[in-house]
Amino acid sequence: MQRIFSGIQPTGVPTLGNYLGALRNWVALQDGHDCIYCVVDLHAITEWQDPAGLTRQTREMAAVLLACGIDPHQHIVFLQSSVRAHAQLAWIFNCVARIGWLNRMTQFKDKAGKNRENASAGLYVYPNLMAADILAYHATRVPVGDDQRQHLELANDIAQKFNHDYGVEFFPNIEPLILGPAARVMSLRDGTKKMSKSDPSDQSRINLNDDPDTIALKIRRAKTDPEPLPFEPAGLEARPEARNLVGIYAALANTDQAGVLREHGGKGFGAFKDALAALIIDSLRPIAAETNRLLADPAHVDAVLRDGAERAAAIADPIVAETERLVGFIRVG
Ligand code: TYM
Repeated sequence: MQRIFSGIQPTGVPTLGNYLGALRNWVALQDGHDCIYCVVDLHAITEWQDPAGLTRQTREMAAVLLACGIDPHQHIVFLQSSVRAHAQLAWIFNCVARIGWLNRMTQFKDKAGKNRENASAGLYVYPNLMAADILAYHATRVPVGDDQRQHLELANDIAQKFNHDYGVEFFPNIEPLILGPAARVMSLRDGTKKMSKSDPSDQSRINLNDDPDTIALKIRRAKTDPEPLPFEPAGLEARPEARNLVGIYAALANTDQAGVLREHGGKGFGAFKDALAALIIDSLRPIAAETNRLLADPAHVDAVLRDGAERAAAIADPIVAETERLVGFIRVG
């Protein structure tokens, strides 16, 4: 059975983008894979997080994963900071990855912005930690949204360079799984920007815990153009906002753009937005209800995470110990 690894940062309430680009696929892939899903709190602090907020958001994110339908008994759900192997392997990878490779990462450029000199060193080496997350488990398939593609290419570069430098075939090749018609959900205010939990405008995104009225209002206010919907996907070219809404609809209705346009082509956005809002509300309602139910018993969520961390460490520790042996470290303990 192939091993799957993926992670999500607890830097805010997960968005519809996280759900359609990642979480929904994580759930579906449980059938036929061994899955390891991680709330990546070490990654979260590459940008300042208020400690109490981080604690709360981390537990909420874990609850959301369970509420979406991840089975923590059949698979593994845990927090990155509770398995030391991630930080240990990341250090070795800091010494394998080249500065030139990191300089090409578009996410670092976006996040650091104009004030690069003031970005944390952690933000710069963020992709090395991501490579460690995956490779500490010898995972081979990684379901992510389209924005993580470049990071996974870098992880493969690191794995190959390690194997080459130490003359081994130790780390496997990683296959990104970028699935479905909503692998890149865009902001509701700007169809050229990705929907993000850290966007300053709450109107730009649907949060998984938004109530039905909020969802309906955000969709009604979503930016669109004045034309009716086309009848064919080709008609969505150069219409990023229309394409985004059609993609969201397609993902939630388990169809593709062509299927949505067969049903809604020719309609104006007023009618289409009503149908879309209803679909989003119906899809998210059970997740929000289950998340709230789980959060009423935080000790249960923590127990699930403790069990997950133990089982994760049992896989990662021997792989990292072997990596250290290959590097030439003496183990005296
Ligand atoms: P993060 O927390 O930004 O996002 C979690 C997952 O959601 C996907 N995603 C989206 N998909 C479609 N449209 C969007 N607008 C959208 N926004 C986010 C992301 O692609 C991601 O799959 N670096 C990662 C977390 C990570 C990780 C890993 C992932 C850490 N270690 C190892 C895979 C393997 C991140 O910041 O995700």
